[in-house]
Amino acid sequence: MNSNGCARDMIDEENARFEGITSRHKDSKGGLIPILHEVQELYGYLPDSAFVRISKTCNIPLSEIYGVATFYSFFSLKPKGKYEISVCMGTACYVKGAGRILDRIREELDIDVGDCTEDGKFSLSACRCLGACGLAPVIKVNEQVHGRLALADVSEVLNQYE
Ligand code: FES
Repeated sequence: MNSNGCARDMIDEENARFEGITSRHKDSKGGLIPILHEVQELYGYLPDSAFVRISKTCNIPLSEIYGVATFYSFFSLKPKGKYEISVCMGTACYVKGAGRILDRIREELDIDVGDCTEDGKFSLSACRCLGACGLAPVIKVNEQVHGRLALADVSEVLNQYE
């Protein structure tokens, strides 16, 4: 099979999964949140096109879908990188210079909070206390925690990720 055939198969499979998700939940009360969860699992984030399709298929106003998706922090409207960097901006980390760490990461990767690098490798977010205040300032890369981070350590930490 040629590469176009493969791409078409993937799109067909995604479409089938998308339809399965909406048909499973569209008639249940409060079905929008599970739909958004599962669609986010499917694409890795919630693209605008998914909002339009959910709205049409489930007969839910776009404004309501957008309102729910932006209210809950676990929904992402932008693609995530292979490595998701969360910089803790809780009080302990903030006092120990988390703002400067965040700025350094933004400079190193040339992206802003909420964005993803062009190669899809890293995405960057700021978060609340990660529960490791004794290690402040703390960042998390996917599930790996890096604590007592100095500005000079930022490059080295980022370089650990291939
Ligand atoms: S404030 Fe950063 S881990 Fe608690």
